[in-house]
Amino acid sequence: MHARQGFDPGAIGNDWHLLRDGPHSRILEHRQAPAAVVKLIEPRSKPRDWLRKYGLSQARREHVGSTILAELGLPTPEIYGWGVTLAPTARYESILFMEQLQNFTSGLAVIRQERDAVRRRQFLELVAAGVAKIYGNGYLHKDCHFENVCWLDHGPLVWIDNDVRRSRDLSASRTGLTKTLRLLKNTARNDLSNTEWQGFRQHLYGKLATQPLGVRLADEIR
Ligand SMILES: Nc1ncnc2c1ncn2[C@@H]1O[C@H](COP(=O)(O)OP(=O)(O)O)[C@@H](O)[C@H]1O
Ligand SMILES: [Mg+2]
Repeated sequence: MHARQGFDPGAIGNDWHLLRDGPHSRILEHRQAPAAVVKLIEPRSKPRDWLRKYGLSQARREHVGSTILAELGLPTPEIYGWGVTLAPTARYESILFMEQLQNFTSGLAVIRQERDAVRRRQFLELVAAGVAKIYGNGYLHKDCHFENVCWLDHGPLVWIDNDVRRSRDLSASRTGLTKTLRLLKNTARNDLSNTEWQGFRQHLYGKLATQPLGVRLADEIR
């Protein structure tokens, strides 16, 4: 287990409240520690994740990914620590301790429910600027979609579930960016109009041009 100095999950007892029950993870808060949540993560693919967890568990990847994004200036929840279950076939592969986000709307809910066109555009521009920063600085995001960003009520966009790593080379960046665009489009399904999607791509194109490696990737957008 790797935990930041001063963070002691054992000290906060056993009074947990389930915040979200997802297909591969559960997010819980503790009633006496409402500023922190734990994410319990199940293996997504077996036996791959049963083996991989000893080296690079999902929680550890999220920790690394969040550190990279924070260095790029993209907000993420503060990560307090992570751990791995040693039993080979345990139900949960790993656990992540992090700051609890307050007063936000999931990106998926924004594109499904927000009716104000200006706010929709602001949101899409924030996502595009983040994607440009990640790819334009030589990183890949393996799970970049609208449910993995949270829009805080006071404006900033926070990136969660961060499976971000360094790209091998320009060709891997091109492939990664194409896959990211496909994933974003697929998860948006019918929730974005053609005009909004084109606007998103155009904004991404413009923002990529301002990043160190961006110009060499921008033709993926055209
Ligand atoms: N740090 C957090 N604070 C508050 N809610 C969170 C936090 N992290 C995740 N959530 C909630 O849980 C949902 C799923 O989180 P995510 O990390 O994407 O799980 P999964 O890996 O199962 O996709 C988010 O959309 C959000 O509603
Ligand atoms: Mg997610």
